[in-house]
Amino acid sequence: MKQIVTKAVFPVAGLGTRFLPATKASPKEMLPVVDKPLIQYAVEEAVAAGIDTMIFVTGRTKNSIMDHFDKAYELEKELESKNKTELLKILQNIVPPHISCVFIRQSEALGLGHAVYCARPIVGDEPFAVILADDLIYDKNRGCMRQMVELYHQQHCSILGVERVAPSETGSYGIVKTEDYSGTFGRVDLIVEKPKPEVAPSNLAVVGRYILTPAIFDKIKNTQRGAGGEIQLTDAIASLLSDERVLAFEFEGKRYDCGSKLGFITATVELGLLHKELKEDFAVYLKNLAKTL
Ligand code: UTP
Repeated sequence: MKQIVTKAVFPVAGLGTRFLPATKASPKEMLPVVDKPLIQYAVEEAVAAGIDTMIFVTGRTKNSIMDHFDKAYELEKELESKNKTELLKILQNIVPPHISCVFIRQSEALGLGHAVYCARPIVGDEPFAVILADDLIYDKNRGCMRQMVELYHQQHCSILGVERVAPSETGSYGIVKTEDYSGTFGRVDLIVEKPKPEVAPSNLAVVGRYILTPAIFDKIKNTQRGAGGEIQLTDAIASLLSDERVLAFEFEGKRYDCGSKLGFITATVELGLLHKELKEDFAVYLKNLAKTL
């Protein structure tokens, strides 16, 4: 098995029901935060981690994702003829030249585990990253996935990105219990999907970042439908724990749950305040607005 992570899987075939009606005909992952769609933040994070093969698991209504990462020939010609070189550069840098994009269709939204399994023929016998674009993670230094890839290169085992959540929120996440916690990572000895606060083994929640060894594929294959009638990635990871070491890693950076309306608005405001062209005017606007509240 190759020991470097060069492939990332982006499951983008979910129905996005929490964002209806916006997601009726267009994908949640194409919702823009300031000036980039969520999926572009996710791909940029993977590129920053040294990953060069982007595997998108898509569904119906997701064609705009494919278009976004394709060359926009007519638009490029138009910008070139009008000497709009800055815009042209932005467009051409969406996918740097050394990056390959592969698209696979998940014909039915049978769950995150099933979506990851759809990528098996492309991933093969290699460790790989999984990035859920609706968890936007901002880290001003290296980016979340780069931190995880660096840890993988030391530890050579599956790694789950985790963060501490309020005890009342455990019912919305996969929750892990760890041993030998080093301060930032520890070995997972239990993982439970969406436990109620009174039975949750901790408040360490798995968020949308994973590095998985290819052993996960046989585990998913043998996973029955679980919570919500879906094939859950959490259940397959639970089964992997008895064969392999899996780490939980508390990354540096701030996560925005852009699959929820409040998380999405929060990300828009906070990334707007960091945006080089907008930050000053936007801060003035917010200060004035706050006075009226
Ligand atoms: P979510 O649990 O956020 O589901 O999926 P969802 O359908 O996107 O959104 P809601 O809850 O109905 O609003 C987590 C990730 O897994 C992908 C989604 O696209 C999202 O990135 N996913 C989920 C799939 O690709 N296929 C599935 O069958 C389910």
